[in-house]
Amino acid sequence: MVDEEWANRQRQLTAAGLLVLGKAAQERIQQLSDISSLIEAAQRSNVVMLSERTVEEMLTLVPTEEAIDVPQGAPRSEQATLPDPESQSSIGRTLAPVGPQVLAPPVRRHGLDHYNLADFPMQAKDVDSEIEIHFDITGNSTTEGKMGDIRSCFSDRLRQIRQMMISGRALPRRPISVSEAWRNRQRHSSRDYEVTLVGLVSVDKWSKGGYLWFDVEDDSMQIRCMLKEPSGASNFHPSLDGLMNDDVVGVSGHFVIGNRDPYFSVSDIHMPPLGRHSKSAASEAEAVSAAFLSDVHVGSKTFLAPQWEKMIEWFRNDPLARTVKYFVLSGDGVDGVGIYPGQERHLAIKDLFNQYGELARLLENLPDWVVLMILPGNHDAVRPAEPQPALDPEVQQDYSDAVFVGNPCDFSLHGVRILSYHGKSIDDFVAGLRSVTYSSPELAMRAMMERRHLAPSWGGKTPLSPEPEDRMVISTVPDIFVTGHVHGHYVGNHKGTTMVHSSTWQDQTDYQRMLGFQPKPCILTIVNLHTHATASIPFA
Ligand SMILES: [Fe+2]
Ligand SMILES: [Fe+2]
Repeated sequence: MVDEEWANRQRQLTAAGLLVLGKAAQERIQQLSDISSLIEAAQRSNVVMLSERTVEEMLTLVPTEEAIDVPQGAPRSEQATLPDPESQSSIGRTLAPVGPQVLAPPVRRHGLDHYNLADFPMQAKDVDSEIEIHFDITGNSTTEGKMGDIRSCFSDRLRQIRQMMISGRALPRRPISVSEAWRNRQRHSSRDYEVTLVGLVSVDKWSKGGYLWFDVEDDSMQIRCMLKEPSGASNFHPSLDGLMNDDVVGVSGHFVIGNRDPYFSVSDIHMPPLGRHSKSAASEAEAVSAAFLSDVHVGSKTFLAPQWEKMIEWFRNDPLARTVKYFVLSGDGVDGVGIYPGQERHLAIKDLFNQYGELARLLENLPDWVVLMILPGNHDAVRPAEPQPALDPEVQQDYSDAVFVGNPCDFSLHGVRILSYHGKSIDDFVAGLRSVTYSSPELAMRAMMERRHLAPSWGGKTPLSPEPEDRMVISTVPDIFVTGHVHGHYVGNHKGTTMVHSSTWQDQTDYQRMLGFQPKPCILTIVNLHTHATASIPFA
């Protein structure tokens, strides 16, 4: 790229309030065919400085893979007219560039991306269903909720994520136990003799100087740690974004031993590794699609019944609908009863079983080639502690043909690995991390992937069941990661994993109005399991 073009880009970045740090960042930006998505991602994430690492992080947030991977645009040709003989100029007028005429399709209502039907090649009725469940707690919960269960759950989390860090070479040296480091704190009290520890986090506070204080604890003991913001840190760096209670992190650094209690000064903080994921695909002969929806909230007065009818009509008539083999409902199918104080006045159906009956009736109208998968959420009639088991057999009998699974559920459809989680812990991520808001649930999903855990914080807003093995750890990176719960909508990509935040079928509630939150209801998200193309279909 010539200097002039770079200068042009830099002007755009400066106008957007962005500063490029270093040659490597500049080179990465120069490789992009278009920088508008990068600017948008940076602005949404409140990022101001663009180091090489920040640019990479921003690119993982860009909604479609194509947007960052397309080659440089076609060269523009320019034509000049002959010079006016009266003028002194050696060239005439420069005409508008002549390039291939590509007409951009009009922007869709809701601003959703276009899709190409050719990317959804297979009729659902031509393919047999193939579901393989890798994890579902239903019938497998062994905890008695005792202190020993809680201890073994956390030990197992620490063991699993530490192992990921070691085998993924995320640590600069072999980690030692906290007590061993403490015993040798005199020796490890300078930058030249740093050590690395891995433990569970207990967040303390940000000090006035902007340093993050937290405890790190392993099976042996806990120590106080202080983390400074490194230069060029992105807003996702824990020194700026924060940590979640009970995160597993690695810390490298040394002890500071002075007049006050010794503490551990962290020079580098390590999260589990998450490289670029290469997705599995269903075979060409099984190129059907999966549709994702959540939070239907049947029984609520704000359930959007006419829009549901519109979707059923679409299923009967639209060619894209004929490719939908699976319909995954990620929790809160009904509004439930007694979920929050005063809920009764918001209910159109006050009986829980009648709510499930009505949901069954609504789903029955889907074409018979569609296989339903139903997970519970925090409004459903199962234990709220996660992992949650599937809905009760008594509820299930209303549904003629559905696969009931727990929450979260790790499963494969034709070899494509899907992690579906209702998303209750997004409430904790909003409270715990500065980057995450209710209007950007994808940043909570990103945070879950980066720490390889769906719901780290014990004692927060997400009730957890202390299973002896912590099954909320994301042990296998999914091809598709789907959540719901906060009634937004998002389709994108994070390091090669397709990220879907499923839409709801509930209109804005009084509570959401009070908070100034605008939901994005009635959007069906469809992913083809062979091409991994996505489509978002709005019905409101
Ligand atoms: Fe919900
Ligand atoms: Fe929910």
